[in-house]
Amino acid sequence: MFDVCRAGFSVEGNEISYHELMASSLVLNHVHRAGQFTIAPFVLNGSNHISRADQFQTFHIPDIHPSAELSKAGQSKMPGHERMSVATGDFCVLYSQRAHADSFDAVATIFFIDTAPNLIRYIEAVRNCLKPGGIWVNLGPLLWHHVARNEDHKEEGESERDRQTGVSDAGIGDPGSVELTHEEVIALVGHLGFTIEQHEHGMFETGYVNNPKSMLQSTYRPSCWTARKV
Ligand SMILES: C[S@@+](CC[C@H](N)C(=O)[O-])C[C@H]1O[C@@H](n2cnc3c(N)ncnc32)[C@H](O)[C@@H]1O
Repeated sequence: MFDVCRAGFSVEGNEISYHELMASSLVLNHVHRAGQFTIAPFVLNGSNHISRADQFQTFHIPDIHPSAELSKAGQSKMPGHERMSVATGDFCVLYSQRAHADSFDAVATIFFIDTAPNLIRYIEAVRNCLKPGGIWVNLGPLLWHHVARNEDHKEEGESERDRQTGVSDAGIGDPGSVELTHEEVIALVGHLGFTIEQHEHGMFETGYVNNPKSMLQSTYRPSCWTARKV
């Protein structure tokens, strides 16, 4: 979200997790300088270190000062803080709403679509909130997050609560897990009202929040595609 804003666009981010929201709010709204805080992200994991110093290595965050970066001239006539906002809540519930219909020129999903129990819900939400002709840019792997989850895990009393509040859309609380391949995702997106403009996979390798000094390295070769709302 910040990078899109820094490139000069107006952007709305979306996040459901309070942990993520609190951390990003701290960095975006409350730091006074780059490198203000020191963190030791690998300290609680004792495995696969070459040296103890690797376990205790520290980093200074943030690497840049967000508001100073956004106030640099030349990106947009509108100030950065007026071009960036965050909507909290479940992506598929929020952006399926009529209030969000045909709102955005573009949607970017980064390491995100595999958080869906049922990808169709995410595709429908993106389709709802994009303007006709709008573009969807996606990058990420397919590590389906809801594998092995089933109806038994539904919280006790949840159905009763739904009945009482009249809220029946569980969003990512929907039961089940549909684990599609990259080819199936492309076919599904094309089937549900988009034209696939380009798609590729395995073009580059990337980690995700990993320790480059560790003896254990996990690497993704993510897929990347763009689709246009018909
Ligand atoms: C794998 S992370 C990727 C985050 C970020 N795009 C990045 O590349 O670092 C997926 C994020 O999506 C959030 N998330 C998962 N399901 C969501 C939903 N239904 N609505 C909104 N956010 C969701 C998670 O809390 C998590 O922060």
